[in-house]
Amino acid sequence: MKILMAYFSRTGYTEKLAQAIADKLIARRHSVEWEVIKPAVYYSWLREMARDWPRYPSIGLSLLSSSWRKHHIRTYNQVEEDIQALKYPDVSRFDRICIGGPKWGQISYPIARYLQTVRGIRGKKVGSFATFGGSPLKAFEIDLIQKPVIQLLGRMGAEVIANAYVSSAYHEASLMPMFRLVSLLRFGRHVEHFILGSKYADTRIQNFCEDLLKNKGGKADAQV
Ligand SMILES: Cc1cc2nc3c(=O)[nH]c(=O)nc-3n(C[C@H](O)[C@H](O)[C@H](O)COP(=O)(O)O)c2cc1C
Repeated sequence: MKILMAYFSRTGYTEKLAQAIADKLIARRHSVEWEVIKPAVYYSWLREMARDWPRYPSIGLSLLSSSWRKHHIRTYNQVEEDIQALKYPDVSRFDRICIGGPKWGQISYPIARYLQTVRGIRGKKVGSFATFGGSPLKAFEIDLIQKPVIQLLGRMGAEVIANAYVSSAYHEASLMPMFRLVSLLRFGRHVEHFILGSKYADTRIQNFCEDLLKNKGGKADAQV
């Protein structure tokens, strides 16, 4: 299959996840081409975070109530950011599209703009991947990235068929002590249990590739 690996990575960790996924796909003799999504302007992390602050009370509430979380995901206003010109503005010639970035509250702003900009995605099968600083808490880390991506791509007529979400154990805003405590309380494990190179991440990457390469009948494609 011809696979496009489109990613944005601000501090380099999602890039490593993209490479790990691509290595596995190439090992199965699929062809991978790259779209490195770059913001038009690189802002400080503080300025990026500040753009989402109006949504933080609603995110906080969505941790307490799953029905509010559903409402929040259905109705929140996704922040976007200008991106540089794309190498592949039209993805119609690819069999599968992989799209990944860091979790920034929800979808990172350059990825949100990419999803709105890219052409030829209608009817495509997509693999979605992301990294975040904390452990894979369903209500916070997973639901708030996975569901918005499925929703946004669904509106554009694309289907998400594979997911891989792993931790980087890193946060620009020095929030790691809080994430570490939550990880121990919720999972009884250090955040490092969920980073690249862990059994957790290896399994997620393996499952991502299996799901991505499945044909309609459910069998994984062996090669190109
Ligand atoms: C604006 C902003 C928002 C972020 N929001 C979250 C978040 O909601 N949850 C989280 O665990 N990490 C969050 N992070 C941390 C990044 O998701 C994490 O460091 C990621 O692995 C970085 O990936 P990269 O190296 O590919 O940029 C945020 C970082 C920034 C700059």
